[in-house]
Amino acid sequence: MFCFKRLLSFCLLLVSAQTLVAAQAVPQTIHLQSRVAPVQATLRRRALNPVTVPLADFFLGTDLQWFGNISVGTPPQSVSVVFDTGSSSLEFASTLCGTACNNQVKFDSSKSSTFVDVGTTSSITFSTGVGVDPVIGANYRLTLRAGRDTVSVGNLSAPATSLFLITNQTAKFGIDPFSGIQGMSARAQGFFASLISQGLPSLFSLFVTPNAVGHAEITIGGIDTTKFTGNLTFASLPAGSSSTWVLNSPQLFVNGKSTTVLKASRNIIFDSGTSNILFPTATANALYALISPNIVPHTAEPGTYGIACNLINTLPAVIDIGFISQSGAPFNLTIPSSELNVGPFADNPAICQTLINAFDGLSLVGGSVLKHYYSVWDVGNQRMGFAPI
Ligand SMILES: *[C@@H]1O[C@H](CO)[C@@H](O)[C@H](O)[C@H]1NC(C)=O
Ligand SMILES: *[C@@H]1O[C@H](CO)[C@@H](O)[C@H](O)[C@H]1NC(C)=O
Ligand SMILES: *[C@@H]1O[C@H](CO)[C@@H](O)[C@H](O)[C@H]1NC(C)=O
Ligand SMILES: *[C@@H]1O[C@H](CO)[C@@H](O)[C@H](O)[C@H]1NC(C)=O
Ligand SMILES: *[C@@H]1O[C@H](CO)[C@@H](O)[C@H](O)[C@H]1NC(C)=O
Repeated sequence: MFCFKRLLSFCLLLVSAQTLVAAQAVPQTIHLQSRVAPVQATLRRRALNPVTVPLADFFLGTDLQWFGNISVGTPPQSVSVVFDTGSSSLEFASTLCGTACNNQVKFDSSKSSTFVDVGTTSSITFSTGVGVDPVIGANYRLTLRAGRDTVSVGNLSAPATSLFLITNQTAKFGIDPFSGIQGMSARAQGFFASLISQGLPSLFSLFVTPNAVGHAEITIGGIDTTKFTGNLTFASLPAGSSSTWVLNSPQLFVNGKSTTVLKASRNIIFDSGTSNILFPTATANALYALISPNIVPHTAEPGTYGIACNLINTLPAVIDIGFISQSGAPFNLTIPSSELNVGPFADNPAICQTLINAFDGLSLVGGSVLKHYYSVWDVGNQRMGFAPI
């Protein structure tokens, strides 16, 4: 899920308030294996071991989101959240939310002895949502009440962590099999910032596999080297990219070909909470022109494209997104043809939606890329790493 900060003042308010906190909290990286720490430093600050949380896949014919459990409160209540690199706060359904949240497990703050009601109310509007459809207006909007409580992930615990109780939500959230969203932006916040200050290395890793593969997981504070073979390739975030996970891409290719439009340099956001790919209209059109002339905009859902379902599964549609590694070598992240079909449109099931949505002003990739790689999100070194799985 992505909070489009330039358009949405509510997001802007939330993010700028948190940026101040994050600026103080951004820690130094601790290299567990190689660093010889003075004895006194070891006593002062014992390193925490990474923790791995299993993730379930929200699958509706297409992989939409990966979510796992954290615990909130005393005694702990289990709360399922999407670990969302496209946003930066923690919010989840609560008993303050009426029928709008009836599909979700609700956190009951009155049952937690450590809960603090901050009392301020706000809302957050997302510009990418839960499914593969485009976001229309404010149809992904949460109404929130601020609080603080202990947040635990595995056996690691962060006291007095800022969070938001969902007190109302738009109907689009109703189908979610999870209760909330844990923002994992490129500036550590909330429980992650707290754990880093307790000695956890300042990175996390995602293994968000296709539904048929399973065993998805997030490792917080480390890298699970059993999940990939070969080497991680790292690329640095552009200077000044603030809290957004973004990499510069010099070129896009489809089925090995490129065009003038696709050779333009662009910054691409990495959002684990979005399933589709978003590109400006001209880029989306240029990509589709190299796949099939029969892929056309689906006017009933502005921003989407489709093609007859009986034509889609045999189309070659390999998308290579070019990047430059920290050592200056080009590398691609590759989206295989199997990702092209994200399923039939509700208003016309004979037409299947294709994975790229037009969205002017933004280039963004999510689950459809990330599920083909083991990815490392290195907050301390402001870089991302990828290894094929
Ligand atoms: C989350 O916890 C619930 C029980 O509270 C359990 O049923 C579910 O399988 C857990 N989800 C994951 C992804 O581990
Ligand atoms: C948490 O669990 C991990 C692995 O299960 C273990 O290595 C670590 O020592 C535990 N940490 C604490 C603080 O208990
Ligand atoms: C919750 O939000 C919906 C709009 O999504 C609104 O119609 C409804 O009145 C709100 N409910 C409450 C209790 O505020
Ligand atoms: C990984 O890196 C090591 C050391 O740089 C190198 O020897 C090895 O060939 C690399 N492996 C692959 C699969 O690229
Ligand atoms: C990236 O993909 C393009 C198109 O398939 C290919 O021509 C190029 O060699 C690839 N780059 C690398 C570094 O593999």
